[in-house]
Amino acid sequence: MTALGKLDSSNLNGGQKLGVKYYTVALALFGAQILFGLLAGLQYLYPDFLFGILDFSVNRMVHINAMVVWLLFGFIGSSYWLLEDESGIPVVGLKLGNLIFWVFTLAVVVVVLVYLLIQIGDGTHTSIWLINEGREYIEAPRWADIGIVVCVLVFFYNVAATFTKGRFTGVGGVLVLDLIALAGLYLAGMYYTPNISIDQHWWWWVIHLWVEATWEVLVGCLMAYGLMKTLGVRRKIVETWLYIEVALMFGSGILGLGHHYFWIGTPEYWFAIGGFFSALEPVPLVAMVVHAVFDAGHHKLKSTNNPALAWIIAQAFGNFFGAGVWGFMHTLPQINLYTHGTQWTASHGHFAFFGAYVTMVIAFFYIAIQKWRGNVYMSGNMAGGSWKWKWAIALLHIGMLAMTMALLISGYEQSQIERAVEGSSWVGYFTAQAHHWFVQGMKWRQIGGWIFTAGFVLLVWDLLTIGKRETRPAQALTEID
Ligand code: HEM
Ligand code: HEM
Ligand SMILES: [Fe+2]
Repeated sequence: MTALGKLDSSNLNGGQKLGVKYYTVALALFGAQILFGLLAGLQYLYPDFLFGILDFSVNRMVHINAMVVWLLFGFIGSSYWLLEDESGIPVVGLKLGNLIFWVFTLAVVVVVLVYLLIQIGDGTHTSIWLINEGREYIEAPRWADIGIVVCVLVFFYNVAATFTKGRFTGVGGVLVLDLIALAGLYLAGMYYTPNISIDQHWWWWVIHLWVEATWEVLVGCLMAYGLMKTLGVRRKIVETWLYIEVALMFGSGILGLGHHYFWIGTPEYWFAIGGFFSALEPVPLVAMVVHAVFDAGHHKLKSTNNPALAWIIAQAFGNFFGAGVWGFMHTLPQINLYTHGTQWTASHGHFAFFGAYVTMVIAFFYIAIQKWRGNVYMSGNMAGGSWKWKWAIALLHIGMLAMTMALLISGYEQSQIERAVEGSSWVGYFTAQAHHWFVQGMKWRQIGGWIFTAGFVLLVWDLLTIGKRETRPAQALTEID
């Protein structure tokens, strides 16, 4: 046992050591996501910028693929993080899990390099296998797809075998079942057909059902564990909430898939099904807010890890507003007719991914750093001050909200001028893009992006230094009903 406040991997169990490796790569890819987002945003303002060197299509693709991969790395890392704690035994097959981490990371690096080096060319059967599959968010070529499936299967084996051999808690049970769905759905995105309607139909199975069902359930598990760790909320309470949230999420999210079937050539009954069930999707998100805020209030905000608790609460609200409210705004077919595929969608996409997922992964970064430094004190009045984490959370939120609002204004202008006034014509598309409201929105998005970047730099700095000068042990948890 080394001194408190010192980074020492002997403070971590086997699963947690592997977890922090995943976290490190996740944080680096988060940085890459931001960099390529900034480049793509600049290209909206200066269309010639880097043209022919790093095209918009490439920057956009790297931006959103980096997002999907770093969040997945964050989730995998967090699952390894809680695995031994929850199951009560060392991770089964940890050596294999460690090996797979390196294989996975190497594959991601190769895929990104290929994206950057080969930017244009014919789409053929060879390019699908070696370069790019052409499916937004999951563009990885077929060889990498198969590799990812193998890596995820090993990860699944680690989690399922450890819980089976050790203790199967409620959180563990939900996590294992959810990972079956999460891994299984990835296969739907590997189905190749030249028919664009059928292709989109299956592609949405991955995209929508991942982010609105399986990823939501996964963060539900993480929130349950996080609330027990930071506040000492009793297991019985968090697990009861978790079951309710999961039931509501699957109840609304599965058929809510229909809100992506409005305009891709699927039968018309999807208007009614998609509109109705997706309108119910915010309900479980309200349950998550009640759950987190009630528990925090009940424990008078006395936590063992203030930054982590702050990010958990940010998740509850971000998820509700970004996914629930911003999603609900354009989910009825009557409204979606005007807003579909405008910057309105990008406004929701940014706010939802940040609010629901980025927040929870950052909460786990803080839970991890605390233990890594020997379970050091991280409540009020930390030695070394707590301005960095507070400013990081503020700047990241101000930046994200500025981007969200700017995009919403641009999107609003597009739905009015391009769709309502000009009747979705080709001319209308360009008129709307040239309108000063649109252009101003793009400028403000970029300013929001710079603020967000400043928040990210501060976050990394804080994660590297928080608790370093602290010598007190973490505050004891007080379990109350
Ligand atoms: C955390 C959960 C969610 C995330 C991360 C998320 C993210 C996204 C993203 C990135 C898109 C754009 C997809 C594309 O590239 O075409 C999108 C589209 C959409 N989302 Fe969500 N979403 C979430 C939850 C919701 C919820 C709860 C609703 C409804 C209540 C909703 C309604 C919609 C609709 C209607 C579209 C289609 C927009 C269009 O027609 O262009 N989303 N979402
Ligand atoms: C510096 C900050 C950022 C900037 C400047 C930025 C910029 C951009 C740009 C220019 C696009 C392409 C939009 C288009 O095709 O019209 C985009 C797409 C996207 N970005 Fe960001 N981004 C930033 C951060 C983030 C963050 C933190 C997230 C979420 C965690 C995110 C999630 C997305 C998503 C989901 C899309 C696809 C949206 C859609 O298809 O509707 N971005 N971003
Ligand atoms: Fe959806």
